[in-house]
Amino acid sequence: MAVFVSHSEEETLRFAEQYARSLHAGDVVLLEGEMGAGKTVFAKGVARGLGIACEVTSPTYAYINSYEDRLFHFDCYRVPSEEYAERLGFAEAFDSGGICLVEWGEKIRGLLPERAVTVRIRRRSEEEREIEF
Ligand SMILES: Nc1ncnc2c1ncn2[C@@H]1O[C@H](COP(=O)(O)OP(=O)(O)OP(=O)(O)O)[C@@H](O)[C@H]1O
Ligand SMILES: [Mg+2]
Repeated sequence: MAVFVSHSEEETLRFAEQYARSLHAGDVVLLEGEMGAGKTVFAKGVARGLGIACEVTSPTYAYINSYEDRLFHFDCYRVPSEEYAERLGFAEAFDSGGICLVEWGEKIRGLLPERAVTVRIRRRSEEEREIEF
């Protein structure tokens, strides 16, 4: 595990952009951290790093946003059950070969592939974040 300390949203974006270079097709990254930690900001940075042109928005109500079939961004906060998530096709997204970024993965623990890795973001102050990866 390594830790990067970010002092601004832009710094988190740039770090995530670099982090994206270490990712391969089919990788699953669990983005952990409290509300407002910066998980979605991190996902935006990864999308930038992968050269995805369209704007990344929080998939709060859609549960999964797909970008060019190369990046899948999950927000499981409002997913009512694992059965529901299965019916929405979560397993297909994990098996699609795209890179998967998952917020609030603890809500669908039973569906997460074993290969999943974790990036943990901790809020140290208004603008400071500790990113463990
Ligand atoms: N260093 C930083 N890195 C990332 N975000 C920061 C930083 N400093 C301040 N922020 C702010 O923190 C907020 C992070 O919001 P974001 O939507 O990414 O959180 P989240 O972890 O996805 O929350 P949720 O669980 O509600 O989806 C943004 O408003 C952003 O501007
Ligand atoms: Mg979010």
